[in-house]
Amino acid sequence: MDPRLFIGVGAFLLISGSARGSNDTTPLVIWHGMGDNCCNPLSMGAIKKMVEEEVPGIYVLSLMIGKTVVQDTESGFFKDVNEQVSFVCEKLAQDPKLKAGYNAMGFSQGAQFLRAVAQRCPNPPMKTLISVGGQHQGVYGLPRCPGESSHICDWIRKKLNSGAYTDAIQKHLVQAQYWHDPLNDDLYKQHSLFLADINQERVVNQTYKKNLMLLEKFVMVKFLQDSVVDPVDSEWFGFFVTGQAEKTETLQESALYKEDRLGLAEMDKAGKLVFLATDGDHLQFSREWFNAKLLPYIR
Ligand SMILES: *[C@@H]1O[C@H](CO)[C@@H](O)[C@H](O)[C@H]1NC(C)=O
Ligand SMILES: *[C@@H]1O[C@H](CO)[C@@H](O)[C@H](O)[C@H]1NC(C)=O
Repeated sequence: MDPRLFIGVGAFLLISGSARGSNDTTPLVIWHGMGDNCCNPLSMGAIKKMVEEEVPGIYVLSLMIGKTVVQDTESGFFKDVNEQVSFVCEKLAQDPKLKAGYNAMGFSQGAQFLRAVAQRCPNPPMKTLISVGGQHQGVYGLPRCPGESSHICDWIRKKLNSGAYTDAIQKHLVQAQYWHDPLNDDLYKQHSLFLADINQERVVNQTYKKNLMLLEKFVMVKFLQDSVVDPVDSEWFGFFVTGQAEKTETLQESALYKEDRLGLAEMDKAGKLVFLATDGDHLQFSREWFNAKLLPYIR
């Protein structure tokens, strides 16, 4: 994520939050996006501070993958996603403040990674998952790279175009692990180490389905002017119709939903899926919008 996109959010921080006395709050776990880190004062740092102001007493954990901010940023590009998810599962399990459960908010790729946490690691329990511009059906293209990381991103784009599904690239390049090529569906299903697994493309893992359905709510935010995610439908769990890369289908039109391989159809019927749309480019929103639309799910 482009840290600069958050300057707008940071500017609102001086407005004080509503005062609430009690501390029966549910903790919030945040996972940042690509090119970002846990603690950037203009992005995740600002979000953490904003939530702490709006919900007095809340415990907010902004995840750092690795031991330092630099390692954390690099992990967003180069660390095996399945290992990152295990690392986070362990961290959450060891945190005494999360024992009674937590809400989770993932930004961009952090959102699909947190969904993997929900599916694989039900303890402590995740209550509500909020996906802010997450790519639940992956991406097929990296049209624009976030902020200061654009040189890394250009290199990554070349690698992805030249063979995203080779084992070496799958293992070491994060974006390859949610690369979804609709023209090579078999390759994707067979070789995608992360996304095809959590999306039940090879087998239906009943544990994944059962665990995801434990969520109280699964909120997905789509950015209507998104110039980073291709196709943007992925933010609502839609994707290209297999075999071409122009026509898209919604989650409800997909085999994943119709066969209910992941429990999403059942969750939808139970009113657990929330689809939110907002104007603006990738991860661009104001504090007012955040407070009005997302805060109600974490209070
Ligand atoms: C509220 O509870 C959380 C979690 O136990 C704790 O981290 C936090 O410090 C508490 N806040 C206040 C203001 O007591
Ligand atoms: C299903 O998921 C669980 C939880 O991650 C895992 O332990 C198990 O090995 C998976 N089963 C299959 C068949 O992949």
